[in-house]
Amino acid sequence: MQLLPVSVGRLPHAQSLLMMVVLVMMLLSPTSALVASGRRGQGRRLVGATPAETLSAVSQERCHLACHQRAGCRSFNFHPGTGQCQVFTVTACDSSSYIVEPADGWTFYDVVDNLSAESEQTLWSQEACVRDGRCRDSCLRRLGQGCRHTQQCQPLVTGVTNCSELVCSCSSNYWRYNETLCLPRYTQLFTDGESWVWKKIVNGMCSTDFRIKSTGTVEVGVFAAYTHYTGRYFMRISQTKMDVFRYVDGVSNSHLASISKTFETDSRYVRFNFHWCGGQLRISRGIGTTNLFSWNDASPLQPQYLAMRSSSSTEGYFKFAGDLVDPWFGDWSSDRVYSIPRDTMVARRRHEQDFWVEFECRITRDCNWMAREQTTWHGSNIWKVIIGGWDNSHSAIHRHVSGAGWQFYTHTATPAILSATELRRFRIHFSPQAIRVYRDNQTEPFMAHQVGAPFTINYDGPHMCCNVENVDFRLVQFDAGWGYEGGFRWGEDLVS
Ligand SMILES: *[C@@H]1O[C@H](CO)[C@@H](O)[C@H](O)[C@H]1NC(C)=O
Ligand SMILES: *[C@@H]1O[C@H](CO)[C@@H](O)[C@H](O)[C@H]1NC(C)=O
Ligand SMILES: *[C@@H]1O[C@H](CO)[C@@H](O)[C@H](O)[C@H]1NC(C)=O
Ligand SMILES: *[C@@H]1O[C@H](CO)[C@@H](O)[C@H](O)[C@H]1NC(C)=O
Repeated sequence: MQLLPVSVGRLPHAQSLLMMVVLVMMLLSPTSALVASGRRGQGRRLVGATPAETLSAVSQERCHLACHQRAGCRSFNFHPGTGQCQVFTVTACDSSSYIVEPADGWTFYDVVDNLSAESEQTLWSQEACVRDGRCRDSCLRRLGQGCRHTQQCQPLVTGVTNCSELVCSCSSNYWRYNETLCLPRYTQLFTDGESWVWKKIVNGMCSTDFRIKSTGTVEVGVFAAYTHYTGRYFMRISQTKMDVFRYVDGVSNSHLASISKTFETDSRYVRFNFHWCGGQLRISRGIGTTNLFSWNDASPLQPQYLAMRSSSSTEGYFKFAGDLVDPWFGDWSSDRVYSIPRDTMVARRRHEQDFWVEFECRITRDCNWMAREQTTWHGSNIWKVIIGGWDNSHSAIHRHVSGAGWQFYTHTATPAILSATELRRFRIHFSPQAIRVYRDNQTEPFMAHQVGAPFTINYDGPHMCCNVENVDFRLVQFDAGWGYEGGFRWGEDLVS
């Protein structure tokens, strides 16, 4: 058996040549050229693992040979001063109880099959490898997996992660969506005084900490399905009172409680805890405080969605601890269909005043697009383009004038323009001079309104006014301006 020293990289002088000879040794075998690399193991040794073989007073070559001759050798420690040699069939990242720790005179050798591949690994130049010997790509971890170093968690995880108590976890201001994604907690959600904002409950969450700020009345409910027409628990909170309800649509409506209390949600975020696990409703001002409300439902609902709104024409601000995502979260394919329930709008900020929107709609009646100036619904100047209203017989453009009310234009007969089964395509051209609405690829609008006094459009988006059914929207072409990671974002970042 012959052990060939190899040298790699640029070697500026004799000393580093000697160092490379000491740190990198070929472990010749008939099938592969395994290399023992001590490039990240100088002054360190592997502890926490039981050696497969221990030798004393041997030469470095003898230690290499011991590794080579042992089936499954993955690494070894060698101390030239004492000739101590510890051969392992494991290596640094095989268990989070193994540690490569500083040790005078020792070198930890990792057995790799390719030196250039070794130094191309993600962690090669990071502290986790340089200092802690956790170099291999097999050291990378997902959330919930054992770790020693935060850098092991970061490459596979999106969002802020941390190796905390030897497990990759989302950092404290983030919550875990799945094994590779941490999302921020307490994102500010905005409601406009009219529309609902919907979120899907994930991770089986049935108890949530949240905060509310509004000068008016807000409602927060958990719904068995993605529609108002389903079983739900909800609360209505004003400055002085909280009411709690259980509705099963078309079956029973119960007003469970009315609690008089000063909440002062108008001046600051007020904290609540809402718990509905197994139909045990509990509402308090925060974990560990006395319940404001406690009631056990004999026929528990199983909520899958959470929705909120502010009424009384006022803005609402909400922050939830986590475990809530937009109903379409995770599927941002450009041809996906977005379903929107009644009394709901998805708005985004609009920065230009001459723009086209293109979309497809599938519903029996009422496919609307809204464009408005202010954040609040009732105070706002609004354009509402109604397609297939009046039971799918007419289309129109309505304008709300701040302080004056609604004005109605271009009431146009458009029989059967919408279909309950087929996506129908429309285009709208908004400009300060005119609003023109086109069917599919037609070059002439079927409806047009000359704008007398334009207002600045700051928000626009699809809207479902008044139908029991959800409307299905498909944006054509999908435009990344709709939010992060190409998604459609609900209630977030609308107001700074
Ligand atoms: C070693 O790894 C490098 C970089 O990944 C690769 O280009 C090369 O082909 C590999 N060599 C062998 C013998 O596998
Ligand atoms: C990361 O985890 C450590 C240990 O648990 C903790 O002290 C630190 O605050 C965490 N950092 C962040 C940003 O969460
Ligand atoms: C976690 O969710 C994100 C967003 O849906 C997705 O891109 C990613 O692939 C998921 N990760 C796993 C491990 O499923
Ligand atoms: C309309 O135009 C689009 C894009 O050019 C095309 O894919 C589609 O087939 C056209 N539809 C009709 C009905 O002509």
